[in-house]
Amino acid sequence: MIPHHTIEQILNAAQIYEVVQDFVSLKRRGVNYIGLCPFHNEKTPSFTVSPTKGIFKCFGCGKGGNAVNFIMEHESLSYPEALKHLAKKYHIEVEEKELTAGEIQAKNERESMLVLSSYATRVFGENLFNHEEGIAIGLSYFKERGFRHETLKTFEVGYALNKWEGFTERAISDGYKLDYLVKTGLTIEKDEKRFDRFSGRVIFPIHSLSGQVLGFGGRTLKKDTKTAKYLNSPESEIYHKSRIVYGIFQARKAIMQEDKCFLVEGYTDVMSLHEAGFENVVASSGTSLTQEQIRLIKRFTSNISVLYDGDEAGVKASLRGIDLILEEGMNVKVTPLPVGEDPDSYSRKKSNEEFSDYLKRNETDFIRFKTELLMRESKSDPIQKVNLVKDIVRSIAVIPETITRTIYIQECSNLMDLSEQVLYNEVNKLRRDKVFRDRNRYPGPADLPQQKQKQIETVKPKDGSPFSEREVIRLLLKYGSEEFEKIENREEGTEETVSVAQFIVSEITSDDLEFCDEILKKIFDDYAFHIKEGIFPGDKYFVMHQDPEISSVSADMLSESYELSKIWSSKKSHVETEDMVLMELVPETVLKFKSDKIQIMIREVKEEIAKAQKEKDDDLLNESLKKYSLLNTMLGEISKNLGNRIIL
Ligand code: CTP
Ligand code: MN
Repeated sequence: MIPHHTIEQILNAAQIYEVVQDFVSLKRRGVNYIGLCPFHNEKTPSFTVSPTKGIFKCFGCGKGGNAVNFIMEHESLSYPEALKHLAKKYHIEVEEKELTAGEIQAKNERESMLVLSSYATRVFGENLFNHEEGIAIGLSYFKERGFRHETLKTFEVGYALNKWEGFTERAISDGYKLDYLVKTGLTIEKDEKRFDRFSGRVIFPIHSLSGQVLGFGGRTLKKDTKTAKYLNSPESEIYHKSRIVYGIFQARKAIMQEDKCFLVEGYTDVMSLHEAGFENVVASSGTSLTQEQIRLIKRFTSNISVLYDGDEAGVKASLRGIDLILEEGMNVKVTPLPVGEDPDSYSRKKSNEEFSDYLKRNETDFIRFKTELLMRESKSDPIQKVNLVKDIVRSIAVIPETITRTIYIQECSNLMDLSEQVLYNEVNKLRRDKVFRDRNRYPGPADLPQQKQKQIETVKPKDGSPFSEREVIRLLLKYGSEEFEKIENREEGTEETVSVAQFIVSEITSDDLEFCDEILKKIFDDYAFHIKEGIFPGDKYFVMHQDPEISSVSADMLSESYELSKIWSSKKSHVETEDMVLMELVPETVLKFKSDKIQIMIREVKEEIAKAQKEKDDDLLNESLKKYSLLNTMLGEISKNLGNRIIL
């Protein structure tokens, strides 16, 4: 349990812009910021951050909320965990009350696995720096390869002692469950026996964007070829190899600053480049690059520079990756390294300046890289050359932007001595192909942010909450403090201003009407409580509310780009904005709310009547009929007021 005042402190400190910016590259747009939504895939930014309102909102996928909601959603954390994450960011100390057994039980599986992974990282790190075996074997290995102490700390590397189940036993005696040890893959269970996955290996923790450890890579220090060089954590609830790139946590800031990301293959390549002064580097960890990994990088930059080993496999791997990167609309450069070198070995051979120089001189755009490579292979064989052209044309055709495609076609035409027209024809032929279009469409209307058309409807099915409930709350939050009407007090000669909120609250509470929806009810009660005390809570109050459901719902409502409901706009001949018609909109919405409530009550009374008739309960029948007639009269009144706008 986090104490109340600490929660308040965290909510006040957490600036939405600062929080989101750790994960999404944002550009200023007026008073707001926009960027590519991290929650769905999009080509044009519809993800908006409003520092004044303290909220984010994606008009593409609809996700929205305050800073805490963002962290909850983005990091898949519970409310308290998200608060703790923010507390860490803002250096706010959280003195937590002891968790009860029940609370511990309630922590979900994911969180338990994250906690265990963080524990394991700590243990492996201690082994490396403080344990005799770790120092003698692990640390001396890293030192031998020339890694600096600081780098080892930055990447939180460690060492797993060379024991069958040393780690497993220690973790269990420290209170961690075997279940999670197995689920994270730290322990392997086989025929009722269990042993450590990573014994006698140096450990590379794999971090999430926000620095949580998701999994591990363990490198053997044995020279024999029988043992696998690397063992990695298995896929799990927290670790999905295809969705993460190694080093992104450490590289994130530099990628944004440099507006460029180097892509290498291995753990040690990342660490070595860091030491050589290139911190904007991530690794695909040996597998071929996935679309999800590319999109992760694309959140921070659209420029990738591929730096793969100079051997055949390395080159082929980079070619495969390149088409995927191009398809995401990113710019790709390639730097071939001398044969037999990888970024780690090569950067060590050179001084930082020499290395940086080499990169500058040898960085080629992909089309030149691919053409030169394939030209070398095909030599003067005409058939091979045809295949080469087809291959390159295919790469160009996946590029989404027309301008970029055109530039590449021109370059390709120069390099291969072919007419531009021929290349255009080939590229266009491919792009007309249906299968091709499906995987890479031109942006069209479907890519535009979705504008939700809101319409006031009649009551929803029995237990559903009618739409008017939501509308009432939305108006309350959005326009609560605005003036609704002035009431003259003739006797005293004074004038009293009634706010929208006062009107709504008094209308609804005087009729004792209740909201069906739990959260809306909470918001209303909270608002009504404040109003009765003579205070306007203000929209920030709800957006920053301690109940994450309340803050999320209110943020959602406040950021809605609202189009006048058809009900209101149909009778207007000209387009009006919502606040221009508040004087009509507010009472009509309140009436609609009441009519929906009454209709629900009528339905219930009808059931009561049927029951009374069946059970021949005359008292109940009389009472129900009385109620029924009363409700109908009320409904009639309301309908008169609402005009013909309700379909009953
Ligand atoms: N890899 C793996 N499993 C293997 C081999 C490689 O997961 N059996 C991944 C690792 O992420 C590794 C990357 O592929 O970092 C690149 O492999 P490699 O070049 O062989 O390793 P290096 O990182 O260069 O390691 P070292 O320099 O220590 O040999
Ligand atoms: Mn290497």
